[in-house]
Order: sequence, then structure tokens, then C-alpha cells
Amino acid sequence: MKVLVLGNGGREHALAWKLAQGERVSQVFVAPGNGGTARDPLLKNIPITDVKALADFAEAEKIALAVVGPEAYLAAGVVDEFRARGLRIFGPTKAAAQLESSKAFAKDFMKRHGIPTAAYEVFSDPAAAHAYVDGQGAPIVIKADGLAAGKGVVVATSLEQAHEAIDWILAPDANGGKLGVVHNEGGARVVIEQFLSGEEASFIVLCDGKNVVSLATSQDHKRLLDGDEGPNTGGMGAYSPAPVVTPNVHAKAMHEIIMPTIQGMARDGIPFTGFLYAGLMIDELGQPRTVEFNTRMGDPETQPIMMRLKSDLLEVLLQATDGTLDQVELQWDRRVALGVVMAAHGYPLAPRKGDAITGLPADAEDAMVFHAGTAEVDGQLQTSGGRVLCVTALGESVRKAQQLAYDSLVNIQFEGKQFRRDIGHRAVKR
Ligand code: AMP
Ligand code: GLY
Repeated sequence: MKVLVLGNGGREHALAWKLAQGERVSQVFVAPGNGGTARDPLLKNIPITDVKALADFAEAEKIALAVVGPEAYLAAGVVDEFRARGLRIFGPTKAAAQLESSKAFAKDFMKRHGIPTAAYEVFSDPAAAHAYVDGQGAPIVIKADGLAAGKGVVVATSLEQAHEAIDWILAPDANGGKLGVVHNEGGARVVIEQFLSGEEASFIVLCDGKNVVSLATSQDHKRLLDGDEGPNTGGMGAYSPAPVVTPNVHAKAMHEIIMPTIQGMARDGIPFTGFLYAGLMIDELGQPRTVEFNTRMGDPETQPIMMRLKSDLLEVLLQATDGTLDQVELQWDRRVALGVVMAAHGYPLAPRKGDAITGLPADAEDAMVFHAGTAEVDGQLQTSGGRVLCVTALGESVRKAQQLAYDSLVNIQFEGKQFRRDIGHRAVKR
């Protein structure tokens, strides 16, 4: 069977790598893919990104299953397009993807269905938004309503920062330009919410509209610098499992967040199919609250999760698209997997492209280099995006996985490379 993975990040490299191990898989295409998927003899890059052209390709190649990586394709309606043409695809429809693409939609949904999350208000009028934060005080969290590639959230520790963030998002002349926000229909809106304290974890499940199977737990490191300092990024590293998700927290997340979400979406007439990723904030008492929903796998969480998955991913996703996830039980490697992201010079604000990459180690069963922002130019591997590589390793403990991941990246060179030296520090402490 032929499979098509949409996207070009480390997440897509890991998904394609795992799918290619499937018993019945004859070919995995990655559209558009990256320098790593180009080098893997089991994968083939296809230079298509347009939704209709992707569906044409899937039809012509008789693709048995398409899997969507990034949220932008979902918000563009790729699942709707494929389904309308009778093509099998795993992901949410455009309507269901609003759980991620519109923070206002997600917050209203959670309120309506009693799903634990931070208290909030939505504003389109700047004066009302400014007055509201003055009444609430800091710390307070300011979010743009539309998709902003992880940059549309400001955790304001002072009122001054909060006011500035509101102006970035709502000022008519700025039009969200400063944050690169894609506004939803109806124009710029800002979500202002209560600051939650605790520890974050990524809680990702597979959904077929009705049934749910949880993936191994994971945690990522969003800040650029060691000690969780510096600006927010898409994620500088991740590991699985996440010790903060105890069996008790897991049960609460399933019963109080995931199941009410799936049932609520079905009741609202927009059944959710695809990966559902609840970003949890877990307080000192072990109570999880939803910080955000993503309607896709996490990046870089996917890289360690795929290294631990023992089940045949194609078979699992075929069952997910058949609506028979109630018959699926996933098998996991008991070891810990940990991935360290190597980012380009200038990431996250202004990543530089075109730096030559050398010294990649050979892939091994317990250590893999998943590519993200890489491209092959005249046979030479170069940086082509912010997050360049995710060096991921398995080990008997967090420390061992950490050790192997860092040992595996010592020879990797590119000008201006940035990476954290403390990925996994919270899990080590526990
Ligand atoms: P989001 O894009 O909504 O996931 O927000 C990005 C990051 O901002 C999250 O991973 C958290 O670290 C932080 N954050 C978002 N909302 C809150 C909140 N209500 N309280 C504390 N931190 C938050
Ligand atoms: N690593 C966070 C995300 O994928 O959204």
C-alpha cells in the first residue's frame, strides 16, 4: 500500500519513518518533505503543497492513506477535500480543526462542555480589552485568536506587557503583522485568560470520531534556553513518557478533558477524527487543565513517541479511519525516548538558512536523527528552517536516553547551531 504524509518538519520525518516500517507498506511519499526524507531510500519527496494538487496526486497514485502533519493544511480543508473525493485521510475536517485554529472557538467549546481550562474573555475592541486587563492585573495571558505558528501567545508578567500585546494583536494598522497572526473571519480578536501555574505535559490521542486511544505521554521544552529561559519556540526538545502524568492524572485527563471533548464535538455535529493534542497544565494537586488544543501531533513530541511505538502505524491509522479504534491496543517500548532539537542561527525570530550541515551519525535502532529544516542542495545538506534536526535516542532511563542523544549529536556541525543542554531536566528531577 502507498501512503502519503503531508508536511516538511521533524514530525513528518518521524511519522514517515514509522509508517515505512509497516508490513503492508510499499511506498511512503512525503509532500513536500525535507532533506532527511529525501535521503531515506524508503521515502520519496513530492514537491506539492496545494490541497487540490495533493488530492489529484493521491488519486493518480492510488494512495491508501494520507496522514496530515501541520495545522495549516487542516485549516485549509485538506481533509474535507480528500473525503469529498473518496480518498482516505487521517485528520480533522476544517470545522473540527477550529479547536486549534480558533482559540475563541476552543475556549467557548470548553466552557459549554464543562472542560477544565483557564477563565477567559474574548475582545475585538481594544479599549474594552485594555480596561479588562487593568481590572484583572498581572500575570495574565494574552492570545491572538488565529493561527500564529506558536507566536501568538504572550504570558505577560506586567500590565505594561499585557497592554503592548493587546496592541500588537488588535491595533488596526498592525493587523496582527507584528506577530504574523492569521486572523479568523470577523477580524482580529484577542483572548485574555487567567494565568495557570503548574507543570505542562502533552496529552495526545487518536480519535475516530467516537473512540479514543491515547498515545504514550510526553513533554516538550518550549523555551529557547537552558533552565526554561528565553523566548518561546515551537519546542527545543521532548521526551516520552512524561513522569508528571501519573496514572491518576492520566485518568483525570481522559475523563475530564478528552472524552468530554470527543463527545461534545460529536454532539455539536462536528465529530473529531485525527490526532487530538491537549496541552495540559497540571497543578500541585494533580488537577489537569487544558492550556490549548492542537488538532495534530506535536513537534518535537512525535519524534520520541514514534521511537517508542511498536505497533504497525499504518494498521492503526487504517482502523482509525474505519472507526474501529475500540479494537486497537498500542504496544510501546518500555524505554524512555528523548529528542534534542538543534536549531538554526537566529531561531526563533530570524532563522538563517543555507548553512552546511556535516557530521551526521548513522541512524541506529536506538538513536535517530530526524530532520526538519534541512534541504539537499547539490548533494550537500544545508539548513533551510528554524528547527533543523531532532536527535532522538532510547534508553533504560531518562538519564541514559539523554546521554545517548547528546553523545549522538557531538559531531553534528553547522554554523550558529543552537541547542539546549538540559532536555529532560524535569523528568530527571522526578
Ligand atoms: P498556547 O499556544 O496556547 O499553547 O500557549 C503557548 C504557551 O504559553 C503554553 O505552552 C504555556 O507555556 C503558555 N500558556 C498559555 N496559556 C497559559 C495560561 N493560561 N497560563 C499559563 N501559561 C500559559
Ligand atoms: N511542541 C508543541 C507543539 O507541537 O505544538
